Amino acid sequence: MAISNLLTISLFCLLDVVAASLTSTGQTLLLNDIPYYVPANPFTTIPPPTSLNTVRSAGDLVPVTVVGVSASNSSLSTLESIINGFGVDDVWNEGFLEAILIEYNGGTAPPNATNASFTLPGGNQSSIVSALSSNGSSSTIPSGPYFVSSDGSLYQPLLLYSDFAGAFTQPLISNSDGTYAALPANTAGIQSPAVGVPSRLYYTATPEKPLAGIRLGVKDIYDIAGVKTSDGNRAWYGLFPPATANAVPVQRLVDAGAIIVGKMKTSQFANGETATADWVDYHSPFNPRGDGYQDPSSSSSGPGAGEGSYPWLDLSLGSDTGGSIRGPSQVQGLFGNRPSHGLVPLTGVMPLAPQLDTSGFLTRDPAIWSAAAKALYADLPLYSQYPKKLYTVEFPTGGDNEADSILLDFLSKLEGFLGTTSTALNLSTLWSSTHPAGVDADLDDFLNITYPILISKEQTMLVRDPFYAAYGAVHDGRRPFVDPTPLIRWAFGDSYPNSTLTEAINNKTIFQDWWASEVQPNDTTTCSNSLLLYSASAGGADPLYRNEYNGPPAVPYGFGTSRISPFAEVPDFVIPIGSASYNSTITLHTEFLPVTVDILAAKGCDGLIFSLVQDLQKAGIVNASLTGQTITGGEILLRM
Ligand SMILES: *[C@@H]1O[C@H](CO)[C@@H](O)[C@H](O)[C@H]1NC(C)=O
Ligand SMILES: *[C@@H]1O[C@H](CO)[C@@H](O)[C@H](O)[C@H]1NC(C)=O
Ligand SMILES: *[C@@H]1O[C@H](CO)[C@@H](O)[C@H](O)[C@H]1NC(C)=O
Ligand SMILES: *[C@@H]1O[C@H](CO)[C@@H](O)[C@H](O)[C@H]1NC(C)=O
Ligand SMILES: *[C@@H]1O[C@H](CO)[C@@H](O)[C@H](O)[C@H]1NC(C)=O
Ligand SMILES: *[C@@H]1O[C@H](CO)[C@@H](O)[C@H](O)[C@H]1NC(C)=O
Ligand SMILES: *[C@@H]1O[C@H](CO)[C@@H](O)[C@H](O)[C@H]1NC(C)=O
Ligand SMILES: *[C@@H]1O[C@H](CO)[C@@H](O)[C@H](O)[C@H]1NC(C)=O
Ligand SMILES: *[C@@H]1O[C@H](CO)[C@@H](O)[C@H](O)[C@H]1NC(C)=O
Ligand SMILES: *[C@@H]1O[C@H](CO)[C@@H](O)[C@H](O)[C@H]1NC(C)=O
Ligand SMILES: *[C@@H]1O[C@H](CO)[C@@H](O)[C@H](O)[C@H]1NC(C)=O
Ligand SMILES: *[C@@H]1O[C@H](CO)[C@@H](O)[C@H](O)[C@H]1NC(C)=O
Repeated sequence: MAISNLLTISLFCLLDVVAASLTSTGQTLLLNDIPYYVPANPFTTIPPPTSLNTVRSAGDLVPVTVVGVSASNSSLSTLESIINGFGVDDVWNEGFLEAILIEYNGGTAPPNATNASFTLPGGNQSSIVSALSSNGSSSTIPSGPYFVSSDGSLYQPLLLYSDFAGAFTQPLISNSDGTYAALPANTAGIQSPAVGVPSRLYYTATPEKPLAGIRLGVKDIYDIAGVKTSDGNRAWYGLFPPATANAVPVQRLVDAGAIIVGKMKTSQFANGETATADWVDYHSPFNPRGDGYQDPSSSSSGPGAGEGSYPWLDLSLGSDTGGSIRGPSQVQGLFGNRPSHGLVPLTGVMPLAPQLDTSGFLTRDPAIWSAAAKALYADLPLYSQYPKKLYTVEFPTGGDNEADSILLDFLSKLEGFLGTTSTALNLSTLWSSTHPAGVDADLDDFLNITYPILISKEQTMLVRDPFYAAYGAVHDGRRPFVDPTPLIRWAFGDSYPNSTLTEAINNKTIFQDWWASEVQPNDTTTCSNSLLLYSASAGGADPLYRNEYNGPPAVPYGFGTSRISPFAEVPDFVIPIGSASYNSTITLHTEFLPVTVDILAAKGCDGLIFSLVQDLQKAGIVNASLTGQTITGGEILLRM
C-alpha cells in the first residue's frame, strides 16, 4: 500500500476527533524584557481604539497606561505629575507608555483628545489611543498598566516574579467567580515557579477594603476555593479534590481586599521539620538571611522564607500550634503573631491540635500587620496606655555577645518608653511556690508530655486515620507515604491510652488558669497587667545550617518559653530588633542573622501589643524589616 494512502487515512481520523474543547488560559509576554502574564478574560472592554496601528504590538496586544483625571483638572502638567507617580509601582514600567488611555472622571472628554500626541516626562512621545468619559464610579477603570486589543478588550496583566527561595507550593490567579486557579505561566529559572502580582496602582484602601491590593501568600494548610490543599504531603494532594470554599481566615482577608498570589510551603501536616533531611516530600524553602543556607524553621516555612525574600509579597498567613509562626519569624527576622487562642474560627484549616491551633501573620511591616489583624480578628480593641509591669524570662543579664547586647539595649529602651524597670521571672520557682494543690511541683515534669500528647492524639484522630482510610480505599489497602517527623509523633501518641488526651487537656487548663491568675492577669485600663519578654533567636550566636546531618526527628517533649503561649492561650508576638554576626562555614565570610524578641500579654490583649509595636516604631525603637541578606537589606546570596 502506498504511504500516501496511510497518511490520508490517519489525517482523516485526526480531523474526526479534533472536535475538542479549546480554552485560552491567557498568555505570557515580555515588555521591556520584563515578563507579564495576560489573563484570558479582559477586565473590561472599551470602544475599539482607532489609532492602535501607530504603536508596536505583541500579537493583537498593545501596552497602554490608563490615567484617570478629573475633567476640571486634565492639563498636560497634571497628566505628567500623575504618570511620574506611577514609577513607584513595581508592575508598571515605561513600556506601558506606548499608548495612553485617558479617563475623564465626571465629565466629557475633550473632542480632540483621541489621536493626540502626548509629550511624556523626559521628552518622548506617546499616543492617546482613547479618551473616555466615565460618569459615575461604577464604570471607572482603575489607573495603571493594561494591555488592550484591537477589539477594545482591556486586560490587567500580572508581573511575573521568580520564586527563587522555593517559598510557594502553588502560585494562583483569581477567577471571576471568587474561586482560584493555578497560574498558567512561568519564567525562566530552575525550580523557580513564577508568581504573578497585579499593579498596586489599581487599588486604594478604604474603610470597607482596608487591605485593598495587599498581596497575600497563604500557608498550604488553608483551603482556597477551587484549589487543592497539600498539607505538605504529596499523597494528600493527589487524593483529595479541590476545596469548594475558602477557609474562614482566608475569606476574611479576601473580604478586606487582600489579593491571594499563591499557596506557600508548610512542613508536613504542620509538624516541626528541620531542613534538609526531614523534608522528604517537598524541599524546604530557603532562608534568605546570612549565607542563605540556614534553616527557615517550620512549619510556616514558606511564609517565612517568602517574607524575608520578596519585597513584592506584603503579607503571609501562617498558623501556630507550638511555634510555627514564631519560629520562621524569629530566624527570618519578621513580625509574626501567635494570637490569643480562639480569636478566629479555623474552619477549612488542617488541624494539628484544636486546643492549641491559631491563625496569624508573618510580615515585614507593622502597619500592614495591624491592618490585617483588624480584618482577621473580628474583635481587636487597640490601646494607648501600657502596663507598668514588665517581666523578662531567660533574658541575658550581661552583654556577653552581640545578640545579648542588642537584647539588653532593646530592653532598656522599652523600659524607658514604658517608664518602668523590668523584673526577671523564674517560672520554675514561681510555679513551685504558687502552683495549685494536687499537681506536680516541678513544672518541667508536670508539662513534659502535654504538648506531644495533644498534637499526636488529636492529629491521628482528625487527620491521619481518615487520610489512611481514604487512601487505602482507592489504592487497594495501601498506606500513603508520610515524612519521618509526623510518623514519629503519631507513633508516640499511639503508645499512650486515649485517656491521656483528657489528662493533657486538663494539665494545659491548669497551667492556663495559673498563668491568668498568678502571672499575667487582665487589667481594666491596660488590658494586661504586664508585658513579658523572652528571646528565641540569638542571631549569629545560633546558626542552624541546612546542610548539617541531624539525628532523626524526636518527640517534642518538655516545657520552655515557647510553650507558654500555646498552654496559656495568650498572644505571643515576634519583633525583629537587630542582627548579630557569625563566621559562616558556607561562605567563609562574616554574615549576619536576625535577633528578635517575643512579647506576651494576657489572653485577649492582642490589640495591646499591636498598639505597642506601632508606638515603638514611631519612637524609632522598632523598624520595619526589609527583605535581603539582613533585616536592613542587602543582596540575597544565590538570588536567581
Ligand atoms: C490636579 O491634579 C494634580 C495631580 O493629581 C494635583 O497635583 C493638582 O493639585 C490638581 N490641581 C487641582 C487644581 O486640583
Ligand atoms: C454625568 O452625570 C450627570 C448626573 O447624572 C449628568 O447631569 C451629566 O450630563 C452626565 N455627563 C455625561 C458626560 O454623561
Ligand atoms: C485640543 O485642542 C485645543 C484647541 O485647539 C488645543 O489647545 C489642545 O492642545 C488640544 N489638546 C490636545 C490634547 O491635543
Ligand atoms: C484617529 O486616527 C484614525 C486613524 O488615523 C482615524 O481613522 C480617526 O478618525 C481619528 N480619530 C479622531 C477622533 O480624530
Ligand atoms: C524615550 O525613548 C528612548 C529612546 O527610544 C528610550 O531609551 C527611553 O527609555 C524613553 N523614555 C521614556 C520615558 O519612555
Ligand atoms: C530558676 O531557678 C532554678 C532553681 O533555683 C534554677 O535551677 C534555674 O536555673 C533558674 N532558671 C533560670 C532561667 O534562671
Ligand atoms: C520527659 O519525658 C521523656 C520521655 O519519657 C524523658 O526522657 C525525660 O526525661 C522527661 N523529662 C522530664 C523533665 O520529665
Ligand atoms: C482511641 O481513639 C481512636 C481514635 O478515636 C480510636 O480509633 C480507638 O479505637 C481508641 N482506642 C481505644 C482503646 O478506645
Ligand atoms: C499531667 O500532670 C500529671 C502531674 O500532675 C502528670 O503525672 C501527667 O504525666 C501529666 N499528663 C499529661 C498528659 O500532661
Ligand atoms: C570570626 O572570625 C574572626 C577571625 O577568626 C574572629 O576574630 C571573630 O571573633 C569571629 N567572629 C565570630 C562572630 O565568631
Ligand atoms: C481576661 O481574662 C479572661 C480569663 O483569663 C480571658 O478569657 C479574657 O479573654 C481576658 N481578656 C480580656 C480582654 O478580657
Ligand atoms: C530605625 O531606623 C532609624 C532610621 O534609619 C534609625 O535611626 C534607628 O536606629 C533604627 N532603629 C533600630 C532599632 O534599628
